[in-house]
Amino acid sequence: MIVVTGATGNVGSEVVRLLDAAGERVTAASRRPAPVPEGVRHRVADLDDPPSLTAAFDGADALFLLVAGHEPRAVLEAAVAGGVRRVVLLSSQGAGTRPASYAHPVAFEEAVRGSGLDWTILRPGGFASNTMAWAGTIREHRTAAAPFADVALPVIDPADIAEVAALVLRQDGHAGRTYELTGPEAVTPRERAATIGAALGAEVSFTEQSRQEARAQMVRFMPEQVADGTLDILGTPTTAERRVSPDAERLLGRAPRTFADWTARNTAAFQ
Ligand SMILES: NC(=O)c1ccc[n+]([C@@H]2O[C@H](COP(=O)([O-])OP(=O)(O)OC[C@H]3O[C@@H](n4cnc5c(N)ncnc54)[C@H](OP(=O)(O)O)[C@@H]3O)[C@@H](O)[C@H]2O)c1
Repeated sequence: MIVVTGATGNVGSEVVRLLDAAGERVTAASRRPAPVPEGVRHRVADLDDPPSLTAAFDGADALFLLVAGHEPRAVLEAAVAGGVRRVVLLSSQGAGTRPASYAHPVAFEEAVRGSGLDWTILRPGGFASNTMAWAGTIREHRTAAAPFADVALPVIDPADIAEVAALVLRQDGHAGRTYELTGPEAVTPRERAATIGAALGAEVSFTEQSRQEARAQMVRFMPEQVADGTLDILGTPTTAERRVSPDAERLLGRAPRTFADWTARNTAAFQ
């Protein structure tokens, strides 16, 4: 049995769907109720409350783990106690490129490596789905705003992260490996807005925000240190952060999906 944390999230919900479709026994775990496929069991579990994980982890062979909560060691101990032998961690590219700003994923990576379990770490760059932040203004005014309008980054479709996760959860040969996951091409925020406009058949006007304007919005839903690290990546990416990683293509046996692919599946959110 495979436990998937973050089952209500962009990545976790798709990992649940893929594992179930592949015939695996799955436990979907999250704090909120998750709409899961028929036959998949759901357990309410809070990664900030390790005792609540006991029921979810009991009898599991493998765990898809999200960076959430503040007690990674206790979460891994609960996994070991439940019988888990393999863990796949959804970390972040920033854990490798900017560890000082990404202390939270770094702490989870250290706990996973020290857990005694077979571990695999996934380090995705920015998600294509972050563009959902524009859904309201594009729907209402056909406008989008973001900082660093012309800085291109290879954003990844969360469905590809989920597909990689489902693969390494089920397949041997990935223990002790860290995979960096990006999309197939670097695209700028201005180009992303234009891609959404093309899918809508309408012009989406783009406004470049200052770093300060963007930061003021971001600190409403993320810690200041993470907002600053994210803005550094968006504005002055390192060579490693601009690079298209070969890992997703090697693992999936096909090129990862483009931003246009993601947009085609999600156009309704912007209509
Ligand atoms: N977005 C990016 O650009 C990016 C880039 C690199 C890495 N990442 C990493 O990818 C992760 C997943 O992204 P996503 O887009 O799938 O996120 P998402 O859609 O916002 O989902 C986050 C999930 O985390 C769960 N969660 C939050 N706190 C929890 C807790 N204390 N205990 C248990 N579950 C908890 C939520 O479930 P409930 O609220 O229902 O419990 C939800 O299912 C992020 O958290 C981040 O660490 C994101």
